[in-house]
Amino acid sequence: MTYRKSWAEPWKIKMVEHLTMTSREDRVKAIEDAGYNTFLLRSEDVYIDLLTDSGTNAMSDRQWAGMMLGDESYAGSRNFYNLEKTIQDFYSYKYIIPTHQGRAAEHMMSQILIKDGDYIPGNMYFTTTRLHQELAGGTFVDVIIDEAHDTESEHPFKGNVDLKKLDDLVKKVGADKIPYICIATAVNMAGGQPISLQNIKELREYTTKHGIDIVHDMTRVAENAWFIKEREAGYAEKTVQEIVFEICSLTDHATMSAKKDPLVNIGGFMATNNEDVYRQAQNMVVVYEGLHTYGGMAGRDMEALSIGIKESVQDDHMRARVGQTEYLGDKLIGYGIPIVRPVGSHGVFLDAKKFLPHLSQDVFPAQTLAAEIYVESGVRSMERGIISGGRNKDTGDHNRPKLELVRLTIPRRVYTQAHMDVVAESIADVYERRAKITGLQFTYEPEYLRFFQARFEPLS
Ligand code: F0G
Repeated sequence: MTYRKSWAEPWKIKMVEHLTMTSREDRVKAIEDAGYNTFLLRSEDVYIDLLTDSGTNAMSDRQWAGMMLGDESYAGSRNFYNLEKTIQDFYSYKYIIPTHQGRAAEHMMSQILIKDGDYIPGNMYFTTTRLHQELAGGTFVDVIIDEAHDTESEHPFKGNVDLKKLDDLVKKVGADKIPYICIATAVNMAGGQPISLQNIKELREYTTKHGIDIVHDMTRVAENAWFIKEREAGYAEKTVQEIVFEICSLTDHATMSAKKDPLVNIGGFMATNNEDVYRQAQNMVVVYEGLHTYGGMAGRDMEALSIGIKESVQDDHMRARVGQTEYLGDKLIGYGIPIVRPVGSHGVFLDAKKFLPHLSQDVFPAQTLAAEIYVESGVRSMERGIISGGRNKDTGDHNRPKLELVRLTIPRRVYTQAHMDVVAESIADVYERRAKITGLQFTYEPEYLRFFQARFEPLS
């Protein structure tokens, strides 16, 4: 275990929410009723909820005070102009369109920029992002470095783009078939792994030369910036705020799920520096979301978001945020449990292939493990493996991601270090009895984003 100086959260707790304590018997019944899918559990049946860091953040007293300043005018709400200015000041983008959450921004971005038959390279897929690219007629191509698919590689920037893979694609299909490359910061499906500024700068140079835009999935940009500060030469003295601004200013457009980094429970936006793209998005947002000065958000939510953006780029906040994730990761490593290394930003990712080596990917080891962890202790986690991978849009076969992971995702400012201890201990208990665990099979498989609503039964 590496020695680190203690960190502590730069806040104290003003209000508490009671948790439900359940018995093993209750949990066995609950997971059966949920078809062995942790997304289908009722939150009342969950003790520590590490399903996702999306919309599960605790807001600050200042954000709650901001909610009282909501201007719920249909058009031209003052909160919109505050949000617009905050995004310009902190993220550099010129034009913004609020949306109810990230995937609405992905929908508009994809429909505006992608033509049928286009290719969209990216640093690993994300579920909703790739689906919207496909629905717009595009084909996603993974151009992340190989190390990202290896859970044991200690590469400090496993979110980096492999420029050779990108160049091979350009040579194969032609730059005119590639409207943009999508880069995610703190790459979710790779385990919350960062991309370096060096890599983004090289990518900027390459894409400018070939007339390819960069779309930034900035859902966890401040978390990525923290890793740059800690790991990239020349950035130790820069603030998270400065690094975030620099990352954004190297890209052309952005989609944001504000339910993560910016510390709110709902919201998102699409941003761009291109006026024409902005006009088209304004045109679309009134069809799918709402008027362009609220786009699916209440005035009060936009105000809480403006404040949340400012809080999210504070160094002390990010030190505690990532520090807590690393704390849990180090504990699990201490128990000998296989996890994605180095520990990422927003969660600890268990390597289900190594945890349950006797199960083939066809019996869904990560889905199985998430269900077992819930039964053990009431801790809710999420599958990020073959079920999340979905099916190939042409052949209908399972996509078979190399990574078969269970994500223990940590909501921001919600749980304590003692909760992390309980989580680690309960996973160690499952690890002890791992040899007896058998797999699952589908009883229901939805067409889109199947991991959300699929149902399973245990293999006999
Ligand atoms: N991009 C990334 C990298 C995400 O992690 C998410 C959501 C989205 C886009 C879509 O945003 O949910 O606001 O529509 N990730 C959540 C998660 C669902 O649990 O990882 P959304």
